[in-house]
Amino acid sequence: MKQYKRTTITAALPYANGGVHIGHMAGVYVPADIYARYLRMRGQDVMFVGGSDEHGVPITIRARKEGITPQDVVDRYHALIKESFAEFGISFDVYSRTTSATHHEFAAAFFRKLYDEGKLVERTTKQFYDQTTGQFKTDRDIVGECPYCHNPEANGDQCEKCGRDLDPTELINPRSKESGAQLVLKDTNNWFLPLNEYSAWLKEWILEGHKEWRTNVYGQCKSWLDMDLQPRAMTRDLDWGIPVPVEGAEGKVLYVWFDAPIGYISNTKELCESNPGRWGTWQQWWQDEDTRLVHFIGKDNIVFHCIIFPVMLKAHGGYILPDNVPANEFLNLEGDKISTSRNWAVWLHEYLRDFPGKQDVLRYALTASAPETKDNDFTWADFQARNNNELVAVYGNFVNRALQLTQKYYEGRVPQPEALNDYDRQTLAEFADVKARMETLLDSFKLREAQKEAMNLARIGNKYLADSEPWKLIKTDPDRVRTVINLSLQLTANLCIAFAPFLPNSSERLAGMLAASMQTRPEEKVEASVVLAWNRLGSTDLLPVGHQLPQPSLLFEKIDDAAIQAQTDRLARIKQENIAAAFRPAEVKAPVGYDDFERLDIRVGTVLECQRVKKSNKLLQFIIDDGMERRTILSGIAAYYEPQQLVGRQVCFIANFPPRKMMGIESQGMILSAVDYDGTLRVVTPEQAVRPGCQVG
Ligand code: MF3
Ligand code: ZN
Repeated sequence: MKQYKRTTITAALPYANGGVHIGHMAGVYVPADIYARYLRMRGQDVMFVGGSDEHGVPITIRARKEGITPQDVVDRYHALIKESFAEFGISFDVYSRTTSATHHEFAAAFFRKLYDEGKLVERTTKQFYDQTTGQFKTDRDIVGECPYCHNPEANGDQCEKCGRDLDPTELINPRSKESGAQLVLKDTNNWFLPLNEYSAWLKEWILEGHKEWRTNVYGQCKSWLDMDLQPRAMTRDLDWGIPVPVEGAEGKVLYVWFDAPIGYISNTKELCESNPGRWGTWQQWWQDEDTRLVHFIGKDNIVFHCIIFPVMLKAHGGYILPDNVPANEFLNLEGDKISTSRNWAVWLHEYLRDFPGKQDVLRYALTASAPETKDNDFTWADFQARNNNELVAVYGNFVNRALQLTQKYYEGRVPQPEALNDYDRQTLAEFADVKARMETLLDSFKLREAQKEAMNLARIGNKYLADSEPWKLIKTDPDRVRTVINLSLQLTANLCIAFAPFLPNSSERLAGMLAASMQTRPEEKVEASVVLAWNRLGSTDLLPVGHQLPQPSLLFEKIDDAAIQAQTDRLARIKQENIAAAFRPAEVKAPVGYDDFERLDIRVGTVLECQRVKKSNKLLQFIIDDGMERRTILSGIAAYYEPQQLVGRQVCFIANFPPRKMMGIESQGMILSAVDYDGTLRVVTPEQAVRPGCQVG
């Protein structure tokens, strides 16, 4: 493999129109951060670049909804997102934004070079136009009647009622979502990137040159490249974005997917210019063949990072291309797709409010179920189990026992070991190659497996302590106990190193309990008597004999059922609200005359008795006082009422249905119920008591 001098790591720039949720974290930011921390610990020169993606239509839609400007929207969410990342220890070297002046200039110049060199093709297309506002409309800003199901409120890109993907030209009577005005098709000129001209080059570069990419990434690229690539518009008729730097292009901006990835470069430039002594020039990070470029993204971003952005870089010339794009699949939440609009998500700022100080627990759980090869599911039960059964019961428990025994037997000083016996040697052998194993996994982006290796060290430690039983030997064989405790402490120090890329806060705290310092960037000198560095992982002399340790505290705490219940209750509530919000009354039925209605005999009766029908979980059997006699009626509402609740109540029923047998019982009529949005049934009852037998009309 080629030896590189430095690595540029990017993490997809999140849209600044909402907060960060666990799906973003599991798919992009936690893996990117683990990888960046790992490479830094190995002594590599790394720049980890992030920032907010502040252009694009969704931001303008959000602004309109809230009656504020797009700039207000991005200011608010950029701050929130940046804060969340900082809280969770996502160790960006730079986190900037695409509304910055540096970025606007840089992206415009990039476009201008392609334009000047004839790398873009100008095309005329027809687009919907609102004559009342003088604006072109994007697909999502258009509504009209669905040609398939005739839903009058279908969106330009999709009908929510029948679920079909639409092209806005298919809509019947397309209107502006914003103004309601009828739209007309009007010619417009835009500049296209001729992806088709690069398809041979892309095939060579990806399909031949990068067979090592993850199968999901390689496969998606292949299916794009197997189809004919089409030229893609790099400018849009919109008023939020970077103005197209070409005369006569007023009212047009750069396509958000053109400007956003350039944001990686302009953010690098911003950092380099703020501290050239530390970071050198931006060109080193983007144009030097000795630099390796890695993009962390979610699977919905693959085409942009593997095809469109590389073509932009290639067309421009002078840039390096990504060496790898370890895209993740999606994380679901309790079995359902995460959705911002339905609020089906766990937001970082809410998590922190509910689980203060437990950032590492979430990082651990998300890595443990990272969607590396397939979609995965986050459940609160799994989260609790990861914490209680792994972080607390394995890692925390081992560390705590090793540290407590050191306090108890040696006043907190690392004891002098005696000669090792076979069991010690066997234990050492089990973790001697942990460094090589973890490196192989981390280098191939198998972060989830790598974290398991770290946890495995703690399992080894627990077993070692349990088998060696120092608490039984302390009186009879003190030499042996010194050896066992020394080795356990060395293992603890190893855990501190191994977990550092994954659980940075916990490793910091544990280093404190070992009176040691973590070396997170070898180029920075650490002043401490004991330094825990990646290259010492697997060693058994990390802590010198006699080294004094402070009083330990617990590394992790149990999470109780009530805290988990509160989260699942919250999700259940959101689900109910979503169902309620999605409810639309059914279409009104075909007209009927009063005569038709009059033929139905609807009456009020008083419930005298009510009981469940044996062997049926649907039916309740009623005895009703109908003003003349006791009438038996069966009704399928057992799921919604306890029989006792209904005794004494008045209900409406149809009195002239022919009797019908169900479950061997004859039902003489039908009790009327309202059917709620989710199918819940509620009996219809007069607003005040009336005489049994009254008619309803
Ligand atoms: N904002 C995009 C998304 O959330 C990602 C942009 S990545 C970049 O899907 F490369 F364009 F910056
Ligand atoms: Zn439809």
